[in-house]
This record gives sequence, C-alpha cells and structure tokens, in this order.
Amino acid sequence: MSTAKKQTILLVDDEEGILRALKRVLGGIGVDILTAMNGQEALDLLVGHKVALIMSDQRMPGLTGVEFLTKSKDIAPDATRILLTGYADIDATIGAINDGSVTYYFNKPWDDEVLISRIQESLKMQAVKAENKSLQKLTRQQNEKLKKLNSSLEQRVEQQTAEIREKHRELAKSFMETIKAFSNMIELRFQDVRNHSQRVGALVKKILSKLELNHTEYQDIVVAAFLHDIGKISIPDSVMEKKTDHYSQADWDLIKKHPVLGQTCVYHISGFEEVGHLIRHHHECFDGSGYPDSLVETQIPLGARIIRIADAFDHQAFANGHPNNEALNEASAYLVRKSGTEFDPALVRKFIECDAGREFLFKESSETRYLRPIQLKEGMIVATDVFTQNGMFLVPKGARLSEGMIGRIVKIDRVDPVSDGIQVFKMIETDKEEANYVPT
Ligand SMILES: [Fe+2]
Ligand SMILES: [Fe+2]
Repeated sequence: MSTAKKQTILLVDDEEGILRALKRVLGGIGVDILTAMNGQEALDLLVGHKVALIMSDQRMPGLTGVEFLTKSKDIAPDATRILLTGYADIDATIGAINDGSVTYYFNKPWDDEVLISRIQESLKMQAVKAENKSLQKLTRQQNEKLKKLNSSLEQRVEQQTAEIREKHRELAKSFMETIKAFSNMIELRFQDVRNHSQRVGALVKKILSKLELNHTEYQDIVVAAFLHDIGKISIPDSVMEKKTDHYSQADWDLIKKHPVLGQTCVYHISGFEEVGHLIRHHHECFDGSGYPDSLVETQIPLGARIIRIADAFDHQAFANGHPNNEALNEASAYLVRKSGTEFDPALVRKFIECDAGREFLFKESSETRYLRPIQLKEGMIVATDVFTQNGMFLVPKGARLSEGMIGRIVKIDRVDPVSDGIQVFKMIETDKEEANYVPT
C-alpha cells in the first residue's frame, strides 16, 4: 500500500474557534486539512479536491450538517462522513446514519484522543479501500487486454490451423498418389494382374467402412492393401507369366516368399512398420494353413485378414477376364465356402453385407455406352470384343484400356474404322476419401 501521498480531510464549521481547535488536534497525524465555514463552501471545495474524510458540524447557517453530508455523497461517494453534534440533534443524526449519509458522529465536546484514534482508523480503511479499488481497476484493464490478446491469438490459431489443414490435405493427396504409383509399378510387368492392387485397395476400403477403426489403423490397412504384393517385384517374369495351375513346386516356393520380401521392401520406410507387418501376413489362413508364419485366427493382424479376403475375391472374380454378375456371385460364394478355413468368418459376413465387389467393379450391360476411339479414356473396360470393319480383332472383352492400347486403336481406326463404336462399361469410383490418409 502506498503511503507517499498524504490523505486530505475537510473540516466544516461556522465557528472559527472550533475549526482552529480541530486543526490543532489533527495537525499532528500527517494529513492535509481543508476547512470551510458552511455547507455550500464545503461542497465547492469537494469539487476540486479528492477528500478521504469529511467532518462537519450539524448546526450551521444555510445547510445543516446532515443536509451537507447528504449532498456530499454525490461528489465524494467514497469519503468517510463524520457529524459533530450536540445531544439535542440525536434523532436527526441517527436518521442520517441509517440512510448512509453519515458514517458516524461525535458529540461536542469531543475527546481529542478518541477523535484522533477514530479518524486515523477511518483514514487507514479509506487507504485500503482506495488501494483495492485501484487494484480492481488494474485487474479489469489487464483482463481487457488479455481478452483482446486471446481473441487475436484465436484468430491466428484458426488461420494457421486452416493453413496446416490445407497442407495436410495436399500432403495426403500426394502420399496416396505415390502409393498408387508404386502399386501400378508392381503390376506393369504382369498383364493378367493389372490393377489388382488398386481393386484390392478399393475393396478393403469398403470393408473398413463397416468397421470402427482409428485413423492410423485405417490408413495402415489401406496403404498395405495397395502395396500387399510389392514383394512380387523380385519374382522372375518366367514365373509370373505362368498360370497358377502351371506352377512347379519351385515356382510355388518362390511365390510364397513375396509377403516376406514385401515386408522387407517397406522395412526402412519410417512409419511403415505396421504396413510391413500387414503385408507379411496377407497370405495367412484363419485355420493356420497359410504362410509365411502359419498364424491362426486373431494371431493374424486384422488388416491382413481383411486384405486376404479382398485379394482372394479379386483373384476369383477376375480369373476369366473382367467379371460379370455370375462371376461376382461365384467369387462371393467362394469366400463363404472358405469362411473359417481360409478367411475370418466375421469379416466375410461384413464383406458380403456391404456387397463390396459389385459396387467396386462395374454394373452390367445396362450401364455400358458406345464411344468412338478418340473418346476412350485410360482405365475404361471394354464390354464386348472389338473388331474393325474388315474383321481385324483389336481388343478382347473385359480388357482395361491403357494409354498405349487407345493409341493403337485410334491409329488403326483411321485406316480401318471400328464397327459401331466401342462398348465400354461405366465405372463406379470408390476412392473419394483417399485424401484423408497421410503417413504418420
Ligand atoms: Fe499376395
Ligand atoms: Fe494379391
């Protein structure tokens, strides 16, 4: 509490002798003293001074002490107000104390010691109150400042969060594009499995939409689905080009290494430990008859069990080119037959429930359209065998068009036009949420 500034008291009495006596008594307590000889003069003084304590006589010409002190509340509401009075004025004094115009009173003649002690006490209280008030004011000002700072900070945080989100989205998009590019590279060598990983990725996402997984689990499984066969990159063309029923034992031994080789491929990529783990186990069977570690049931990571189902479904459905409804039904029936031996029965049920294969692949011929060669786009699937007018066979039913194939068709069409246009299936894309996945 600061004591540097002296407090001021105002003494009001119409008798100069009384004022002198009071000044003498109070002169030694270290305060500034103002005096006035009537209520109006005292009110004028209050306007120009900050007064901590007012002591007024009751009986004065003009305003009485109570009247003056009542009016003084408007100008100096925080000041202590003391009335000097005689016994005859006791009723008016008590009334004034009750309505708050007077803080307390002294009877004339007063006892100097008592007067000094009460006034010092009051002044101390006044100083404490003033200090509290100024602290409250300071707190209010600081709170205001803090509020402004918080609001500008919130705006900055919001702005930066939006920027980070945008960057995150861009990063996620380019991450998934990179993963897809990798998965395409795996399959470039093998015509018969073209787009297998892309389809497995999309099928897996369909099953995942029926499960409640956290973001990281979801992301790891999707990425592993796109890369599950990355280990096949090291298997010689001579083996990969064969149909599976022509594999020798040595070929099988080599093929069975691809999950472990796949895990090794991603082993050194930071954040891909779980992805590698899922790739390693994507050929495990629910009953323990799979490879490479013969894991059983829930020993097999959930993601690997899901990829196993999507992988098998895609191989079954595409065994004879692009599938029709019947092939899709047969592939689903295969999953059901092998449920509990090769596949997790609960996950097969989820797969069948969401009809993942049908949604992903394409709808039947009612959803085909005829296009001229220059209207063809990469990825479109041909619905019927394509011949030129002179009977040259160009593309088989079920082929997925590549850029090179389209280029060849367009060139040939200029000299030997394609009859009646080319019938292609309308595709249903299912990978709209990819931008949500980003490596951790
Ligand atoms: Fe595989
Ligand atoms: Fe596969």
